[in-house]
Amino acid sequence: MSALSPGNAAKIIAAKVNEDRLWRRLMELGRIGATANGGVCRLALTAEEIEARHLLIGWARDIGLSVTMDDISNLFFRLDGTDPDAPPVVTGSHIDSQPTGGKFDGAFGVVAGFEALEAIRESGVTPARSMEVVAWMNEEGSRFSPGMMGSEAFTGRRPLKQILAVKDADGVRTAEALETTLAAFPELERRAFGFPMTAFLEAHIEQGPVLEEVGTPVGVVTGIQGSRRFRVSVTGDEGHAGTLPMPERKDALLAALEMIGTMRRAFDVDQIKFTVGLFRLSPNVPSVVPSKAFFSIDIRHPDWKTLRDLGDSVAGLCEQNAGPCAVEVSEIATSESLEFPIEIRECIAEVADELGIANEPILSMAGHDARQLHYHCPTGMIFSPCEKGISHNEAENCNPSDLAAGTRVLAATIAKLAD
Ligand code: HGY
Ligand code: MN
Ligand code: MN
Repeated sequence: MSALSPGNAAKIIAAKVNEDRLWRRLMELGRIGATANGGVCRLALTAEEIEARHLLIGWARDIGLSVTMDDISNLFFRLDGTDPDAPPVVTGSHIDSQPTGGKFDGAFGVVAGFEALEAIRESGVTPARSMEVVAWMNEEGSRFSPGMMGSEAFTGRRPLKQILAVKDADGVRTAEALETTLAAFPELERRAFGFPMTAFLEAHIEQGPVLEEVGTPVGVVTGIQGSRRFRVSVTGDEGHAGTLPMPERKDALLAALEMIGTMRRAFDVDQIKFTVGLFRLSPNVPSVVPSKAFFSIDIRHPDWKTLRDLGDSVAGLCEQNAGPCAVEVSEIATSESLEFPIEIRECIAEVADELGIANEPILSMAGHDARQLHYHCPTGMIFSPCEKGISHNEAENCNPSDLAAGTRVLAATIAKLAD
């Protein structure tokens, strides 16, 4: 970084963050996969996401960022520092969404990254280390589950073979959909997985009500609560709705409902989050007793011991309520609670204080790619408030000035870590 004092550099860079440009790019990205109710449906490895990738590459060309892609289609957008061989400071999030998602979940972290690098370039401050924005592939896991495939492949936390074998609801394998996406960008230079990073920062909306309630524009994320995700397959037997006597039935739906009801009551502890979001029935027609029920379980809790004990009881509770049906329980993802390094958290808070931007520590109740990067390099997150904490919902909304404040802290922190 030039001879500027860190505090001055932070203020010069922050002043170059352009709230209108940030908001304009968010709305431009939000038009890709836009739904009638004001949200987005931009699932991973779809045509909509390819269109969004082209948009980002266009922005990179305008700003003067070089573009690379890795073998799982994570996209990297780079602003060179004075020492291009030093490990870069990386920021970013995801551009894939839930099917009834909002315009800001993930997208904010990627667009804020572009705004941060553009502000740093415009400020004339050139740190030693290069700075990159990353768009991680399939964070949400709504089409290919579990999510965070891009950051897990990059960090090696999930075997690539396992990731590529996952099928979506139509039986399409990740590998096939990935091939189409990679083929759409033949001109991009490929990047190796796991290249060293000086640090990783993810800006994201809080997806909860806390920051808005206390009126603080920036959250310095202390860590991410743990989560355990399961899939349960219940097998009964089809039968005639009018003739098969109740005692003779092997009704997969009724067994599944008993399991879910029992778990809901058994897991009724403070701060628990228990969600059955995916539920498939077969043959799923009105006059046939269901022979198959397949459902997801997503349990989260800030205390790992509590989460471990509750998660360990899932299989037993399902088996005890299977009745005449068979049941298979598999855990597809286990994420322990984690705490980001204090040095990164203090760096973010100091920059926010230097900029006179109110900030406070906050635990992330949602999962993020930063979870995976935490095991790769010093990692941190910056939260911005969202309206009533609404997210994974088309009504998700944010206040432009809050997002600009978070982006100012992001930009100045990136530059500070890059020096
Ligand atoms: O589920 C999560 O926490 C993330 O938003 N996909
Ligand atoms: Mn997200
Ligand atoms: Mn999400």
